[in-house]
Amino acid sequence: MDKLILETRAVNKIYGAGAAQVAALQSASVTLTQGKVLLIMGPSGSGKTTLLSIMGCILRPTFGDVVVHGRNISACDERELASIRRRYFGFVFQAFNLFRSLTAQENVEVVLRMKGRSKQRIHAEAADLLDRVGLARRAHAYPRDLSGGEKQRTAIARALAGDPPIILADEPTANLDSKTGRDILQLLRGHAQELHKAVTIVSHDPKVEEVAHRVIYLEDGRLKS
Ligand SMILES: Nc1ncnc2c1ncn2[C@@H]1O[C@H](COP(=O)(O)OP(=O)(O)O)[C@@H](O)[C@H]1O
Ligand SMILES: [Mg+2]
Repeated sequence: MDKLILETRAVNKIYGAGAAQVAALQSASVTLTQGKVLLIMGPSGSGKTTLLSIMGCILRPTFGDVVVHGRNISACDERELASIRRRYFGFVFQAFNLFRSLTAQENVEVVLRMKGRSKQRIHAEAADLLDRVGLARRAHAYPRDLSGGEKQRTAIARALAGDPPIILADEPTANLDSKTGRDILQLLRGHAQELHKAVTIVSHDPKVEEVAHRVIYLEDGRLKS
């Protein structure tokens, strides 16, 4: 039942050129399975965000391949990559990346519109997602009036919008108190298990280990098991 949905094959990432070159990732091979939570741990600067961005087709590897749902994306142009990102991924970024001039509800609606949901469904679906993350009462608040935890939960509702099969979250508990952090992790784990999503969490928070099915470690751009 648990199917492979994404694979990186020996991906390398080199930033910069000449003397300023940084080898941020070296030969990283990772698989994502539906229904499971993968945790990527490692110290700051070890390449976690780089790996997550490559998995999410936001960043191209310098060498190596990324295969999403059986398709090697190396040959895809930018337009095709954008369409793959919309279809397969929900992202939770470290800095939330919410639109400040939009309410929590509208931040979720934007994604649903991008994913081509019908006008009639958008409002109801966004309200439903905010309800799932426990934010129904704050749906019409703007980011400036939301706490860190509420912003994070809005970002998670947005990542789940449009029902993508893969959720990628970069340090989703970094700015949260431990109770809110645990709630969010349980939510992500439930999402993986009940809806068969592949969830990847980048973190160095030990709480995340409690919800992960599999943990991999990065050190200086290399994976250790
Ligand atoms: N855009 C970039 N240009 C140059 N170097 C970068 C860039 N992004 C990240 N790096 C470097 O690559 C390494 C890995 O960074 P990153 O993936 O952000 O690690 P982590 O998320 O584990 O903290 C670090 O040495 C970082 O300084
Ligand atoms: Mg990072």
